[in-house]
Amino acid sequence: MASTSAQSAFNARLFEKRFKRSETDLFGMLERLYGARDDYGAFCAALKDELAAAWDARPDDLKWCDLERDLEPDWFQRPDMAGYVFYLDRFAGDLKGAASKIDYLQDLGITYVHFMPCLKPRPGDSDGGYSVMDYRAINPAYGTMKDFERTTKAYHEAGISVCVDMVLNHTAKEHAWAQKARAGDPKYQDYYLVFDDDTLPKRYEETLVEVFPNHAPGNFTYYQDMGKWVWTTFNEHQWDLNWANPWVFLEMTQIMLHLANKGVDILRFDAVAFMWKRMGTRCQSEPEVHMLLHALRAASRIVCPSAIHLEEAIVGPAEMLPYLGRGEHDGREGNLAYHNSLMVQYWSALAARDTGLMRHVLGTHFPPILTNATYATYIRCHDDIGWAVTDEDAGAVGLDGRLHRAFLSDFYEGVFPGSFSKGALFQHNPDTGDKRISGSFASLAGLERALEANDPAAVDTAIDRIVMGHALIASFGGVPLIYMGDEIALLNDYGYKDSPDHAHDSRWVHRPRMDWSRVSALAASPKSPAARVYAETKHILARRRATPELHGGMPTIIADTEAPELFAFIRKSPAASVVCIYNFSEHWTTIGRAWAEEAGAQRFWDQLSGQPVFSDGGQIKLPPYARLWLA
Ligand code: GLC
Repeated sequence: MASTSAQSAFNARLFEKRFKRSETDLFGMLERLYGARDDYGAFCAALKDELAAAWDARPDDLKWCDLERDLEPDWFQRPDMAGYVFYLDRFAGDLKGAASKIDYLQDLGITYVHFMPCLKPRPGDSDGGYSVMDYRAINPAYGTMKDFERTTKAYHEAGISVCVDMVLNHTAKEHAWAQKARAGDPKYQDYYLVFDDDTLPKRYEETLVEVFPNHAPGNFTYYQDMGKWVWTTFNEHQWDLNWANPWVFLEMTQIMLHLANKGVDILRFDAVAFMWKRMGTRCQSEPEVHMLLHALRAASRIVCPSAIHLEEAIVGPAEMLPYLGRGEHDGREGNLAYHNSLMVQYWSALAARDTGLMRHVLGTHFPPILTNATYATYIRCHDDIGWAVTDEDAGAVGLDGRLHRAFLSDFYEGVFPGSFSKGALFQHNPDTGDKRISGSFASLAGLERALEANDPAAVDTAIDRIVMGHALIASFGGVPLIYMGDEIALLNDYGYKDSPDHAHDSRWVHRPRMDWSRVSALAASPKSPAARVYAETKHILARRRATPELHGGMPTIIADTEAPELFAFIRKSPAASVVCIYNFSEHWTTIGRAWAEEAGAQRFWDQLSGQPVFSDGGQIKLPPYARLWLA
């Protein structure tokens, strides 16, 4: 740039352009949400000022990244994207430690990291950091905001994008706004959902569901000192924000832009389904939630277009898809959303050795292609597995929904006869019969039991299940997210029971500390389960990078193999197709070469193994838990 004044004129014009591009998206939504209020004009003016201020504050290197990603808007859909999710302390101690682990992640093939909640949480039990008391400060146990910026920069230089949680639905009760509300300040009481008596809470409760029925029953909490009830969907210490108040929207937008200006590439919006309340409903995924998310996306498109949004809505298939934009929100809402159904269906098919339900759910509820968006595909995360299978979907393939869900819980808890799994129950709700499950990938997939039984064949089988899961999420379409430790087959960690802040929450069973001694031993003991899973996972990510058809923008077409144990889909690019086939059973099986040809396979060559397929006559032979990417 010739001079500073030319530079600032350029900047101002660029902002003007970006503002114009998304103005209708932003104010179109806000008008519908808040337009009837007397203070709407003042709110809009304040919001415009905030956008301009955040743009002025945005560092030049990030503005450069904005331009790059505007030119290459599919950057997050490309097959070289692969994510890794970890708690900073459990992975590497703190932010400085995380910077020292970049080599390890690069070796594995990682280009995206999710630093699990890293903003300043309330003291004591903070729901794994999801009870935030200060969104502008880093958890002091992990370092400072400077450390965060330094570590993020180091990751960027290594070609790795950074994802950070921003909890949208609630703050900790220790947050400054909640403290002021508690002290009686009406302005801040309007930031939350505060009630003088329990008349309305009781009416809402009639249709609300319980998120943590065991350790945090009920959705409201009475505070003696305030003489009021507060909406607390999750834990007592997590106060739901009142998004019907535009000034909450403004505050949260400021925070979002502040985080993006610190270098965050992917904003993970936590618990979005709960953001809007409507009497007589479950208060989840109400239409206004999508208007809010659409507006937030427009705001970030103006100030920090290189940052994308990952929406966390762990709901059934029909309800989940709109988070990636449907109808008027198409291409304008989340860029990423967790594919909860793929995860649930992986576990369901694995237990049942039958992919009928999986084929039905993934084939009927999900379109082959999305606009400006893709899935976050995963097999395990830091949360429990809830059996999000509807009665209708189960019924469509001849199953009883309630019985199938109960079967899955029993199977993965390990109490179903013949189960290979070892998990822990989470939040058994006797009213609905729901039982959710915690457990690490390896333990749920059978490795823990196999090792206990000293059974080498069962160890091999468990490893195959894990590798098949990683191959599935790498090929389905989306950004595969590997949960820390799954690449070295870490087992359940029962030590959480000794921690007073964790003992009540079995999700900690699958939040172990990274085992770096195991990592150091990988090369020396290549036959260990850890080394085998690591090598295969690394190989899968490398093959993914080399397979252009796996780009998130290419359609995923679910195919019918007519074999109950096989799940198959076709990834179609204009030039070629890859036919992905997975065997969800411990038995050998076959699929016709003619079927594969019809599905689009041109060569009987497995892109994943780099080997010709094994066939006999007209049949391709598939070993137990086979994974095949047919060229
Ligand atoms: C999300 C998080 C979960 C947390 C909840 C409440 O679902 O993933 O860990 O308990 O939000 O913040």
